[in-house]
Amino acid sequence: MQAIIRQALTSDLEGCYSVEKQSYGPEGASKERIAKRIKTYPKGFLVAELNGKIIGIANGTSTDKEDLSNESLKDMAHFEKDGKNIIIFSLAVLPEHRGKGMAKTLLNRFIEISKEDKKSKILLMCKENHIALYEKFGFVLIGKSKSDHGGTEWHEMYLGLK
Ligand SMILES: CC(C)(COP(=O)(O)OP(=O)(O)OC[C@H]1O[C@@H](n2cnc3c(N)ncnc32)[C@H](O)[C@@H]1OP(=O)(O)O)[C@@H](O)C(=O)NCCC(=O)NCCS
Repeated sequence: MQAIIRQALTSDLEGCYSVEKQSYGPEGASKERIAKRIKTYPKGFLVAELNGKIIGIANGTSTDKEDLSNESLKDMAHFEKDGKNIIIFSLAVLPEHRGKGMAKTLLNRFIEISKEDKKSKILLMCKENHIALYEKFGFVLIGKSKSDHGGTEWHEMYLGLK
């Protein structure tokens, strides 16, 4: 059976948090943050559902801001529905469902929605080992981030949509 890609509902909170936690560990977003993201911008919170279970998530915010190291973005503090940018916070798939194209499906849908909404670009921060993944989708490396979230080094990337 194929996974369904759809917008998250408030009732998906436990499933989304479980994916976040299993994927990012202590660096991941708290349940409260996940709840806020679903409530504030459901259009920017996609889930992959298989047999009634959430197996993958892709989420972010819409904003005019571009400073990715600003932690308050992750609390949706600078959410602007008509903001020109999308900032991705999480792209995560349950370990047992990885390597089957699920992140690819989620990210492609996320990019499609951002284009439909006439956003200018999608920005994100990732660890060095994921730069190659995002490059496959056309993301360009900006450089090292000022952020030291979780005590690690982050790289900033963007995808121009116009
Ligand atoms: C990264 C992650 C989302 C990939 O999910 P996935 O469903 O296994 O990825 P896919 O199978 O859709 O792979 C998509 C493409 O990325 C590539 N890819 C996957 N993981 C990669 C990695 N760690 N490094 C480089 N490329 C990678 C795949 O080879 C594939 O390329 P292809 O289409 O040319 O074959 C998953 O491993 C995960 O949840 N990791 C923990 C959370 C995380 O670190 N998220 C990303 C950083 S924000």
